[in-house]
Amino acid sequence: MNIIIINGPNLNLLGKRETNIYGDLSFQEFFEQLSEKHPSLNLEYYQSNIEGELISKLQEVGFTYDGIILNAAAYTHTSVGIADAVAGITTPVIEVHISNTYSRESFRHVSYLAPNAKGVIVGFGLQSYELALQSFLS
Ligand code: DQA
Repeated sequence: MNIIIINGPNLNLLGKRETNIYGDLSFQEFFEQLSEKHPSLNLEYYQSNIEGELISKLQEVGFTYDGIILNAAAYTHTSVGIADAVAGITTPVIEVHISNTYSRESFRHVSYLAPNAKGVIVGFGLQSYELALQSFLS
């Protein structure tokens, strides 16, 4: 099973960035632990701070992979381009967020992606990614 985690802007700073909100584990460390727990999966990770690169990656994997776990970070709340990419591909996308965006500023309550996602997992820390992964396995 081919599953990819795609992370958007500033998520390369996990472990250093606003640790009170996002925790102190780097995504690389978390990803290694997650991959070790699921040796039978072909689990990949991609991160970009650039909107167009995220769109290109969605297009590249979005017709052949079995699942996409997408944390588009701030672009979740702004990007029609990423929303159109999610709508245009056939691989199911699960939108995830580390923090509970609904308990934060009102601009974070809006997701342009959610209407075309298979589901949304919000607010469980890095475990949000693991819950999304499990949903592809069941
Ligand atoms: C985030 C929530 C977004 O509002 C924010 O811009 C992020 C991270 C999260 O995972 O909690 O960068 O997507």
